[in-house]
Amino acid sequence: MATQTQPAAVLENTAAPSPTHATYLERTRKSAEAHARAETVMPGGTSRQAGYWTPYPLTIERAEGVHLWDVDGHRYIDLINNYTAMVHGHAYPPIVEAAARQLPQGTGWAAGNIPQTSLAEQIVGLVPSVEQLRFTNSGTEAGALAFTVARIVTGRSKLLMARYGYHGSLLEFETGSFGREGPFTYLARFNDLQDFESVLDAHGREIAAVFLEPVLGSGGVIPASKGFLQGVIAAARRAGALVVFDEVLTFRFAAGGCQAQLGLEPDLTMFGKLIGGGFPVGATGGRKELMSVFDPTDMKVFHTGTFNANPVTTTAGGVSVRELTADRIAGMETLCGELKDGLAGAAIRVGLPLSINHFGSCLNLYFSESAPESSIVREDGEIVSRFHLAALNHGLFLAPRGMIALSTVTTRQHVAEALERAEAAMRDVAAEIG
Ligand SMILES: Cc1ncc(COP(=O)(O)O)c(C=O)c1O
Repeated sequence: MATQTQPAAVLENTAAPSPTHATYLERTRKSAEAHARAETVMPGGTSRQAGYWTPYPLTIERAEGVHLWDVDGHRYIDLINNYTAMVHGHAYPPIVEAAARQLPQGTGWAAGNIPQTSLAEQIVGLVPSVEQLRFTNSGTEAGALAFTVARIVTGRSKLLMARYGYHGSLLEFETGSFGREGPFTYLARFNDLQDFESVLDAHGREIAAVFLEPVLGSGGVIPASKGFLQGVIAAARRAGALVVFDEVLTFRFAAGGCQAQLGLEPDLTMFGKLIGGGFPVGATGGRKELMSVFDPTDMKVFHTGTFNANPVTTTAGGVSVRELTADRIAGMETLCGELKDGLAGAAIRVGLPLSINHFGSCLNLYFSESAPESSIVREDGEIVSRFHLAALNHGLFLAPRGMIALSTVTTRQHVAEALERAEAAMRDVAAEIG
């Protein structure tokens, strides 16, 4: 993921490694070997920036429920759940059973299948602004597709997004994730309606679409205010640009996503992550009149993909969406609030500054007196990197940048255990930084 904060190089470069670093090296010898092997055939030994950290990432052998096991045999409580995608944890039995029933029936063919229609019906039933959708294999592709639709419909070529927003691993979005404008990308400050309005006033005629996450996810778990989202929709409509809500991550926060919760209707919506039940997925949806650009009988956008809407992904996704009930969403939110309070208490006890951005079942930690504008621009890069490695040493798996996303199978007992481990990790860090 483009917005991955890289653990500070200081950990790697220090002549005498910190005890945390040394313990990590000592505990994870097989991961080190596996990574060295991977590095010879993949740059950085990975195909995914978000699965990389220094000195090297763990290699995971197996995952079940809230737990991961690495190749050295250590068990971790997983607090990030594949960056929110595994909303029911790992190897969730109803998903495993449904996918396993599908596998012997075949995994893909160049024709229709019933599970894709069922999943599309589920999503259309939940999201009022979506009358039709098209599946892709990732959230990134969903974003690219939404941008293509907007370009075709408006005849314009550029997009406007929030600085430090994230809409996928595509150059047009990535510059914005790092806070830079690009040849196709205008930026405005998240939650700052005036800034969005002024960019639309100045450049509206070039802008095909405004992309927005209702909650900035990888940018640091920051909810948009309803007034801001409403205002941007109105300003975009005045400028003749489409509004694309990116609910790839935020679909976990409410049945029908944040837009259903807030009563807002964007033109297009991007989906991904949980709607694949753990398999690769994305989707772009909207009103029929917009989605008709794909209509094969009067096609304006050519869209195809060998694995789009394959029956394994859509079968698993159907279970994932069905099982994400309002009660379970509320349960995750309650536990996440308890986790947040517990982490704040632990930081006070060990004497580390800690600020926490929290929304629903997700949070982001900052070892500073206040949370920065984004997790990309932060003062605590070195401390959060140390904490990440220390947490791994204590059997706690979270994002290197301090992001946490719970699953529906996380229990109060898991939260209590996670808090003990997090406090031990904070104690290690506090001792090292004096
Ligand atoms: C809000 C948002 N949009 C888009 C994407 C891209 O999805 P994918 O990683 O499936 O390409 C992500 C992934 O983290 C995301 O968080």
